[in-house]
Amino acid sequence: MSIRDAIRSRRSTRRYADRLVPEDVLESLLALAHRAPHLTEWPPRVTVVSGREQVARLLARYAGVYGLVEGAPYLLVGLIPGDSELARLDLGFVLEQVVLEATRLGLATCWMTGSYYPDRVTQEIALEPGEVVAATVALGYPREDAMARLHDAAIRRLVSAHRRRPLEDLAFRGRWGVRWTSEGTDPRVLEVLEMARLAPSAKNSQPWRFVLEHGVGEEFPALHLFLTHAMPMDGGIVMAHIALAAAEVGWAGRWQVRWRDLDLAAAVGAPPSVVPVGSFVPKSD
Ligand SMILES: Cc1cc2nc3c(=O)[nH]c(=O)nc-3n(C[C@H](O)[C@H](O)[C@H](O)COP(=O)(O)O)c2cc1C
Repeated sequence: MSIRDAIRSRRSTRRYADRLVPEDVLESLLALAHRAPHLTEWPPRVTVVSGREQVARLLARYAGVYGLVEGAPYLLVGLIPGDSELARLDLGFVLEQVVLEATRLGLATCWMTGSYYPDRVTQEIALEPGEVVAATVALGYPREDAMARLHDAAIRRLVSAHRRRPLEDLAFRGRWGVRWTSEGTDPRVLEVLEMARLAPSAKNSQPWRFVLEHGVGEEFPALHLFLTHAMPMDGGIVMAHIALAAAEVGWAGRWQVRWRDLDLAAAVGAPPSVVPVGSFVPKSD
């Protein structure tokens, strides 16, 4: 399965089958978390809690719009070396690479920042000094029976999980506010934007906005990323989708992190209400 197929097929799963994941598969996911490209000098760490009972103890029965995530045999725990927005951005970037690899391997996942008890997770794992539990991801095989499907469908309806804004609402051409359409856009760029649009975000708020700036004679545009809300983890997740999808379609680029960089906002005329995140620029830069 390609990364783009994984992006297309991934969905948050909240009902899990009572089936173990082979040890080598788990180990390969943790190894990926360890060696995955990251955005900062202080990358996050990912560890795992195993066992349905152990995981159930850590999950909240009800958390706002979300119901219980049930039966997960594993919980990936995302740890940041100290609490900062940049560390959360990096966690989104690294952990989403693991989520997509898990999807490729036929596993189901659900990102969680609200549906678990951080203090209980902290007691369950060995933290390094200064480390903070910032997110968890349920992991396992999905339950396929009718009750499980009904439950997942109900929660998905509640948060409109299937819904994504059209790209025309997310992207601008050259400058903030200038209408972008797919017409005349390189199909590889279009594909990457589509893969960005399918990224998961907390409560499916889809806070990402893109400004595509074409340099004269450049094959690919610079893609500037902004967030309508300061949700760094959502930012890191969409950055992973863009980097992975771009690599697959042959768009050689790399992320320059420019978190809250007002020069980036000024360069494209972005309003003060949005958070500058970074630019995906040609690799030769
Ligand atoms: C950072 C983040 C935090 C999330 N937190 C929760 C959560 O606490 N509980 C939950 O059930 N789903 C949570 N979700 C899942 C989102 O609701 C889901 O990604 C979104 O509705 C889109 O649906 P999809 O993932 O099926 O595409 C979270 C997702 C992200 C990216």
